[in-house]
Amino acid sequence: MQIIDGKKIAELIKTEIAQEVKELITRYGKAPHLAAILVGEDGGSVTYVNHKVKTCNELGFESTLINYPSNVSETELLNKIEELNNNTDIHGFIVQLPLPNHIDEQKIIEAVSVSKDVDGFNPLNVGRMSIGLPAFISATPQGIIFLLERYNIETAGKNCIILGRSNIVGKPMATLMARKGYPGNSTVTICHSNTKDLKEHTLKADIIIAALGKPEFVTADMVKEGAVVIDVGTTRVISQETKTGWKLKGDVKFDEVAPKTSYITPVPGGVGPMTIVSLMKNTLIAAKNAFTSNVR
Ligand code: GUN
Repeated sequence: MQIIDGKKIAELIKTEIAQEVKELITRYGKAPHLAAILVGEDGGSVTYVNHKVKTCNELGFESTLINYPSNVSETELLNKIEELNNNTDIHGFIVQLPLPNHIDEQKIIEAVSVSKDVDGFNPLNVGRMSIGLPAFISATPQGIIFLLERYNIETAGKNCIILGRSNIVGKPMATLMARKGYPGNSTVTICHSNTKDLKEHTLKADIIIAALGKPEFVTADMVKEGAVVIDVGTTRVISQETKTGWKLKGDVKFDEVAPKTSYITPVPGGVGPMTIVSLMKNTLIAAKNAFTSNVR
């Protein structure tokens, strides 16, 4: 069994990106510039956005954080998005989700220009990805693809079971694992809350990607000997062991599942660190496209 070290791979890719940023600055006199819109003060969202801004600084990117109170109107937000779409100094931007209930999240997602949608949430990017056109791919699935690649994990002809069908992880992950190419060429099954006899599916899996948000859902009896297990879960559970009073739990019961696997991602330190790196990589691509005026 080998533990997939997401933290190490993330650092490696960050070094590569930082090097490319230096080259871009030398060549074009400008660094990639990511903007983030944060609405309200949800603890998780504030932490994530701050982490994204910090990573921008580490890599030599420009960053702009735009804060709004939770009662901001949808119109005001849409106006800001329009402004960012037209601002040539900004190469990519994100609107941190979730948004307050009075705002139509889908409308916001669709307002972000395809060429600056570094989250890859705009349906046009999702559609482009699904038919194999160049597109921004959402950060978590892209991060998993990077991990499979960096560990040279064979995916062709493998049975890949995806647990969860979210727009952000499950669905794009299924598309990527089934596509022609590497990583890909897997036979993919998406399982979800209505799936019957789930264990029958998981026991056939050479690769399990667990993204259902239920702590320790995947147990040893559900996993075939030698399977590759990718754990996307990051649920905060109350804990006496940490200063914060909580700790992150994955969707996989790591201690009992790990000995059966060929590769497994831990939580934390597996998929998590890769997501921000993927966002940075998308922003780098957006900047390069802007510098070379490639239309995507
Ligand atoms: N909320 C949780 N994950 C994400 C993400 O990847 N991007 C954005 N914009 N919001 C999120």
